[in-house]
Amino acid sequence: MSTDSTCRICTGTVAEFVDLGTQPLSDAFRLPEDTSEEFFYRLAVGVCGTCGMVQLMEEVPREKMFHEDYPYISQGSAVMRKHFRALAERFLATELAGTDPFVVELGCNDGTMLRAVADAGVRHLGVEPSGAVADMAAAAGVRVRKDFFEESTALSIRDQDGPADVIYAANTLCHIPYMGSILQGVEALLAPAGVFVFEDPYLGDIIERTSFDQIYDEHFFLFSAGSVDEMARRHGLELVDVERLEVHGGEVRYTLARPGARTRSDAVTELLAEEKERGLAERATLDAFGDRIRAIRDDLVALLRQLKAEGKRVVGYGATAKSATVTNLCGIGPDLVEFIGDTTPAKQHRLAPGSHIPVRPAAEFANPYPDYALLFAWNHAAEIMAKEQAFREAGGKWILYVPEVHVV
Ligand code: SAM
Ligand code: TMP
Ligand code: ZN
Repeated sequence: MSTDSTCRICTGTVAEFVDLGTQPLSDAFRLPEDTSEEFFYRLAVGVCGTCGMVQLMEEVPREKMFHEDYPYISQGSAVMRKHFRALAERFLATELAGTDPFVVELGCNDGTMLRAVADAGVRHLGVEPSGAVADMAAAAGVRVRKDFFEESTALSIRDQDGPADVIYAANTLCHIPYMGSILQGVEALLAPAGVFVFEDPYLGDIIERTSFDQIYDEHFFLFSAGSVDEMARRHGLELVDVERLEVHGGEVRYTLARPGARTRSDAVTELLAEEKERGLAERATLDAFGDRIRAIRDDLVALLRQLKAEGKRVVGYGATAKSATVTNLCGIGPDLVEFIGDTTPAKQHRLAPGSHIPVRPAAEFANPYPDYALLFAWNHAAEIMAKEQAFREAGGKWILYVPEVHVV
């Protein structure tokens, strides 16, 4: 059986290093009465031998993931709201401080970042294909185009609005396999001295923390400085800055510019050197990551079975897209996790993809508290544990599975 595929960045050969099994769409929360056939695909990850980009072996068609009912909303975390406001303020004080500036955000979702730009009266456009969340952005006063960003969209925006001083994307670029079209679009739309800034989960953190649940249908690429550097170069752009971020379990914010337009920061040189020294894209590193994933799977299933045998109640916290990878890899269903509490209206009173664990409003978590809470939203641990102090005081315990299975 050949497990190779073709690199979506450079057409080199991608060699598979871990298989996470048959998986459903990570954000396809089903109505309980829905009897339609569920969509499944094979979730496996490989690395390109030519450019070093880590990517999924199989691509899910974009319309299956991003559509009218796409449920994820950015405003669900207070920490993320603060994060995006701080970035908007930074852009307004720097890149957007000139005459009549223009910023385009890809995947603006509910407009959490752009509403601060709109409030400042600065020209902007959010490009967002998912209907319901795009409507939320528009209702918040954000100018939105309901579309997938790609080369043709970029050309049409440029015709209408002129060049962009900033093109920005958070947790969106890594979702897009058709990168050639995206970067040609960026090339066409970006002002001569403009910047393309994007932030996504960082391969270095995913490997260090064994956060294998960052791997799911929507996360097509797992970026590193090395692979983004190559990607930029191959598409006529240059990686000029990197910034490590703690949000979402460890991300990097990359800044790309036209070659020679900006001076490359020391942070880029340092991160590239660090990745080389760690052997981040090397086979031995990636194979060891696969071994640690299988150990977590075995430990988590053993713990949940033991708790069930002891008659303990276990409830999930946060119906994250990440949780689909965990539950479907481990075969965790409602027999082991009673329900998942979540604040997102579009996920509540539905069944989690594949596992069919019911999703209930977050308030039901306390009604009454379970013995254990399996923290699927571990990337928001500080925020959640602070607001759920009463759970610990009532004797409740948190189960985490990253970087290894442990109870706190
Ligand atoms: N930027 C927000 C954040 O960080 O919270 C939302 C991130 S959400 C995980 C990914 C978003 O990208 C979704 O709202 C999805 O509809 C959007 N998206 C997917 N493909 C896109 C494309 N080609 N162009 C623009 N947006 C896209
Ligand atoms: P994310 O990890 O992709 O941001 O998803 C977080 C999920 O967890 C999302 O469905 C919202 C939910 N959530 C809660 O239910 N309570 C919370 O306090 C936070 C921060 C998130
Ligand atoms: Zn490649």
